[in-house]
Amino acid sequence: MENTDHASFIVEQFAEAGYQIDPDALTLLTEQDTSPSLISQILDSLDESTLVVGPAQIDPAFNTRTTPQPGTEYPRVPRDPDYEDEWTGELDVISDITDQSTCVGEYREFVDFFRNRFSRLGDMLRNRGVGFRPIESLNRRKIGLVEGREEVSVIGMVSDLRTSKNGHRMIEIEDTTGSLRTMVLKNKHDIFEQGQKVMLDEVIGVSGNLSDDGNLLFINSIMWPDMPLRTSSELGEHNVSGKAVMISDVHIGSDTFLEDQWLGFIDWLNHGGSVSGNGSVDVKDIRYLVVAGDLVDGIGIYPNQEEELAIIDVYEQYKVAADYFNQIPRHIKVIISPGNHDAVRQAEPQPTFPEKIRKMFRQDVVFVGNPAVISMDGVRTLVYHGRSIDDIVANLPGMKYEDPTRPMIEMLKRRHLSPMYGSRVSIAPEREDHLVIDKPPHILHCGHVHTVGCTTYRGVTVINSGTWQSQTEFQRRMNLKPDPAKATIVDLATLNTNIISFQ
Ligand SMILES: [Fe+2]
Repeated sequence: MENTDHASFIVEQFAEAGYQIDPDALTLLTEQDTSPSLISQILDSLDESTLVVGPAQIDPAFNTRTTPQPGTEYPRVPRDPDYEDEWTGELDVISDITDQSTCVGEYREFVDFFRNRFSRLGDMLRNRGVGFRPIESLNRRKIGLVEGREEVSVIGMVSDLRTSKNGHRMIEIEDTTGSLRTMVLKNKHDIFEQGQKVMLDEVIGVSGNLSDDGNLLFINSIMWPDMPLRTSSELGEHNVSGKAVMISDVHIGSDTFLEDQWLGFIDWLNHGGSVSGNGSVDVKDIRYLVVAGDLVDGIGIYPNQEEELAIIDVYEQYKVAADYFNQIPRHIKVIISPGNHDAVRQAEPQPTFPEKIRKMFRQDVVFVGNPAVISMDGVRTLVYHGRSIDDIVANLPGMKYEDPTRPMIEMLKRRHLSPMYGSRVSIAPEREDHLVIDKPPHILHCGHVHTVGCTTYRGVTVINSGTWQSQTEFQRRMNLKPDPAKATIVDLATLNTNIISFQ
């Protein structure tokens, strides 16, 4: 078969089964002598909510090289019978895309998706008691509503951002009735600073005065949906005892995975012992372990990744992960959410791991999608891997990877986990925007950036839980310094946090 014929045959096979194929994945397949049976083998292995088949989903089918060799023994932590109590508690998965995906990739879905985002975030702004009006009503020539220099307020989704020739901030917004050009003057310092924090595709409220021709609004104030001004105890009952451990970005399979430190952590969960941190933690009090994505390093996530892998086969990476997690004492409920290195659909919201992977783990492990809202005995926890932190750091002034809770606070202010559409985060247009933060959570738990931080914002405990991987070649080139081998302990009664280190 000619190469182009071969490629169209492959694209057709995937399209018929309802999948798109990523160009890199297609190259992988065309470079091989891909038979129909290999294609059906790949199709069988796909999670049903996969939209675009990427290299990560293709590679396992090709892997003949696996290191370590089959039969390799992974280090085990001896069990302590004292710590073998069964888990008791009430865990609810409140929201999760898994098995709920409606997205098939049609144009209409994008319209509905943005309308859903606009109406939900718009409602949050309207709850603040400002009299917002539709953009269409500002057309004074049409209905003569806007007299003189009175201040008007509108809600809009940001469709364009620019700096004018004279250094003013130009923000174009849209609602369902029309679009409006707005401007923050550079000499209005406070508000100009706020204007620099506006991101594309987010929903904001603006108040200001219209120009004489009614075509431009000079902004006096910008409003974000934001969290209500509450303390954590006002966010709902959570009077439970016990502790939850938050971790993320384990990156099992990478040659920079810190196996010794990781085993130290597993050993500590089993036997306790002293660790560095604020105060002592009795491991018998730990009732939850929550992993916010990037359980394994995956394959085909970035060019030449295979050169930095200790385990080439992604399923072998998960087998090793399962072997570690299956050693965690049973009085701890393990909850695992995926990230961009995991073998699930890359577009967010990501469904949870396919059954083939889930069944490698002990039955009591709970798998959720990304993002997911879980309730740990009433402690509402929003788990999101945090890929959008890349967009927030790249687009907002003053954001740094070294201080990961600051971009997370920007998510809370916007009541949205990934405000920008079509940048580093690919987003699937589900009927509902699953990245909108509806009800304020007690805890927002992210990872992805490999640095650790905890803070509180309007009653929400904000945690970025770091990594178990030392600096990678990519991070070295980008001058990113990870803060590895740490876990964050949350006291479920007080929501106080304590970062402990296994370095
Ligand atoms: Fe990540």
